[in-house]
Amino acid sequence: MLSAFTFDNIPTRDLKVKNFQGLGRLLAPGAAIVNLVSSPDIYTHEWASFTTKDFPDNKNAKSGDKVKIRHDRRGRPETRGGTFVWSDEAYREVYRAAGLEEVAKHAPLGRVDEPYAWVSETRVAPWVIYVLKKAR
Ligand SMILES: C[S@@+](CC[C@H](N)C(=O)[O-])C[C@H]1O[C@@H](n2cnc3c(N)ncnc32)[C@H](O)[C@@H]1O
Repeated sequence: MLSAFTFDNIPTRDLKVKNFQGLGRLLAPGAAIVNLVSSPDIYTHEWASFTTKDFPDNKNAKSGDKVKIRHDRRGRPETRGGTFVWSDEAYREVYRAAGLEEVAKHAPLGRVDEPYAWVSETRVAPWVIYVLKKAR
C-alpha cells in the first residue's frame, strides 16, 4: 500500500494516528505500507526543482507547524499551502501509537553522475520512505 506525500498534508498527530490505524486495519497479513513523505530538511534547503529561500520561518518550524515551499525556480505560484513539517521521531511515535512498526527507512540522495543540476540532493535527502508493517 503506497501513500505518496499524503501525510505531508495531514496536520495533527491524532489525525495521522487515526489514518495509520485505518490503513493498518486494511493491511493483508504480511503486507506493508510504504509511506513516502517530505523530510523536514526539504523546507530548509534549496533544490533543483524546489526553493524555500523566501520562507526563512521554516527554520524554526516544529512538528505540526505549517511550512512553505515553492514548486520550482521559475517563480510558479506556490502550490503547497497546506503542508506540515513532521520529524522522524514524531513519525516513529505516530507509528507506535497506530500499532505499526517500521521495518525499513530510506532517505535517497541524488548521485553526482546523474544528468541533473542537483543543488542539495547529493548531500541532503529531500524525502523519506518508511516501510511499515503491523506491530507483532
Ligand atoms: C502533496 S499531494 C500528493 C499527491 C500525489 N500522491 C503525488 O504524489 O503527487 C497530497 C495528497 O494527499 C491528499 N490528502 C490529504 N489529506 C488526505 C486524507 N486525510 N486522506 C486521503 N488523502 C488525503 C490530498 O488530496 C493530495 O492529493
